[in-house]
Amino acid sequence: MKGIILAGGAGSRLYPLTQVASKQLQPVYDKPMVYYPLTVLIASGIHEFCLISSPQDLPRFQRLLGDGSQWGISIEYREQARPEGVAQAFLIAASFIGQDLVTLILGDNIFFGGDAFPRAFAEFKSGATIFAYHVNDPERYGVVEFDAEGRAVSLEEKPAHPRSNYAVPGVYLYDNDVVAIAGSLQSSPRGEFEITDVNKEYLRRGTLRVQRLSRGTAWLDAGTSSSLHEASAYVQTIEKRQGVKLGCPEEAALHRGFLSLGDFEKLVTAMPQCEYRDYLAEVAIEVKRVGIKSA
Ligand code: TTP
Repeated sequence: MKGIILAGGAGSRLYPLTQVASKQLQPVYDKPMVYYPLTVLIASGIHEFCLISSPQDLPRFQRLLGDGSQWGISIEYREQARPEGVAQAFLIAASFIGQDLVTLILGDNIFFGGDAFPRAFAEFKSGATIFAYHVNDPERYGVVEFDAEGRAVSLEEKPAHPRSNYAVPGVYLYDNDVVAIAGSLQSSPRGEFEITDVNKEYLRRGTLRVQRLSRGTAWLDAGTSSSLHEASAYVQTIEKRQGVKLGCPEEAALHRGFLSLGDFEKLVTAMPQCEYRDYLAEVAIEVKRVGIKSA
């Protein structure tokens, strides 16, 4: 399965921060935001990536992430000239997707905990799988309504009067039909090619699976100044308390077997002295002691 990281957008709610760098390059505690969604996909077994961003920000992502070979993965880059909607990603990345299955993750979605994603990725074969997460403010998101049997019956994008409290987080798994479906969409009244319209088409075909994320998974979106601050505070709290870091692509690549311990150690040695390096050095010692545990 191929992986798309969508990291463009206007980022208007983070102005003036986004005058210097895009939202997904802003720090979430001790790492750039994009490290978190990238790590989620690496931990789920994805190793071929395409990152999409605006023409002005793409070179910054390239400088940060390179071609991915340092982590045993590959990363291609594509431009989105204007932020015309999440579903446009499948057209921009059509040549990257080829005939494969594909997952898309939004570059400002941050997840911690649970094994829902690795399991869903391992089980996925066809149709579409999306997730549902209980939130206080569903009107900000795509909203899914379930019937008494727990089947998804409706999907609405940012409804004024949501039919449930279940929002759809920014991780989506699709079969190859998604490219044709995205190509047939009309832009919405707000002028975007909506990912919710893609999901509605799979719902209409009867091939949409909506998996509820349990309380064991935390989902944060870091699109506003206060949610960015809250995400940083959350990461700091977990990292301090548990002595583990969240969102380290190197660690996920090591645990997934994309990176050998020798190459991992070389990466660590080349880093400047900092907490990040100290942490990864500890990871190497631990792996030598007890072997690879699941990420
Ligand atoms: P949003 O948070 O909906 O939009 P935004 O990032 O442009 O922010 P703002 O509303 O403050 O202007 O986008 C969700 C994610 O999808 C975010 O990571 C940006 C990305 N995105 C694109 O890359 N291209 C697009 O065309 C759109 C609509 C979003």
